[in-house]
Amino acid sequence: MEPAQFLRSSRVVIVAGKGGVGKTTVTAALARMAAVEGLTTLIVEVEGKSGLSALFGREPLTYDEVVLAAGGGPSGAADVRGRTITPDDALLEYLEDHGLRRVSKRLVSSGALDVVATAAPGIKDILILGKIKQLERGGAADLIVLDAPAAGHAITFLMSARGLLDAVTMGPIHTQAREVLELLTDAERCQVMLVTLPEETPVNELVDTAFALEDRVGVSLGPVVVNGLYPPVPGLDEDPEALAAEAGVTLRTGEAEALRDAARFRLARRALHEEQLGRLADRLPLPQLHLPFVFRPALGPADVDELAAALREGVTALPAVPAGRGATP
Ligand SMILES: Nc1ncnc2c1ncn2[C@@H]1O[C@H](COP(=O)(O)OP(=O)(O)OP(=O)(O)O)[C@@H](O)[C@H]1O
Ligand SMILES: [Mg+2]
Repeated sequence: MEPAQFLRSSRVVIVAGKGGVGKTTVTAALARMAAVEGLTTLIVEVEGKSGLSALFGREPLTYDEVVLAAGGGPSGAADVRGRTITPDDALLEYLEDHGLRRVSKRLVSSGALDVVATAAPGIKDILILGKIKQLERGGAADLIVLDAPAAGHAITFLMSARGLLDAVTMGPIHTQAREVLELLTDAERCQVMLVTLPEETPVNELVDTAFALEDRVGVSLGPVVVNGLYPPVPGLDEDPEALAAEAGVTLRTGEAEALRDAARFRLARRALHEEQLGRLADRLPLPQLHLPFVFRPALGPADVDELAAALREGVTALPAVPAGRGATP
């Protein structure tokens, strides 16, 4: 599939998955891939301390938009921009937009939102999603990528609209919930991209989450990202000693054995990963995008670029099918 066609299949992509599987990293890579394709891209972070800005070598995000990766250059790349959306800020803005500026600050600083949120669960989520909907409608960017909260919370997060729609039958909250649900259930406006690691438990949880999101939220699922696959190292996996000889390196005592151990370890991991990719394909009929494990202590902009390129390669290999295919066979 053409990367541009893939990236333009819906304006909002919500990146979701279990804790620590690489949601933030995939968010960065997807945004960068889109920007390199020339799409203006906005990353929205809802939980602080995600480490997202550090991936771009920048300061932590705030409610005000900043450029995370500048575009330009001969290839015509667009900017990756980023911002946070917190329920408090979204409420403040909502009240101000609705002529309640005078009370808004005091209301928010008094913690009134926490009181309301206890009485009406989902209200904070709907404030965030309502703001996303407003950005989408206003054409804030060609692509908006949302780094969603971890899986358990992602389902409740995305369920909030349906819950509130049932609980509140009229008024602004009802309208907001209805409009958010319209966004979430329209494959041409919004898709969820689930991320997992190639390991047994994360794969199982991803499959459960996929079906829950489709059945209970009615959201459409994009390809699944399998993150952290050990890339093949030509030569090393087969015959490390030959590789050393080729590079003109004389191995000292014990080094050949250590290299063979490392190669055996890598091969065993790779076999395990392959097995999990197969299990995932059997259980979830969604296309997969594979991302390599990057062997570096802390990932930075160059690594985001590398992962964006890998994502692009995966997308190019996808069959050109229209958006909106689902996990339910
Ligand atoms: N492909 C990769 N190669 C190497 N390291 C990776 C890769 N993907 C993620 N990581 C590292 O794994 C850790 C978790 O990744 P990340 O923060 O993206 O996950 P997350 O799903 O957003 O986590 P959380 O649920 O805490 O928000 C980070 O230290 C990140 O740098
Ligand atoms: Mg994260």
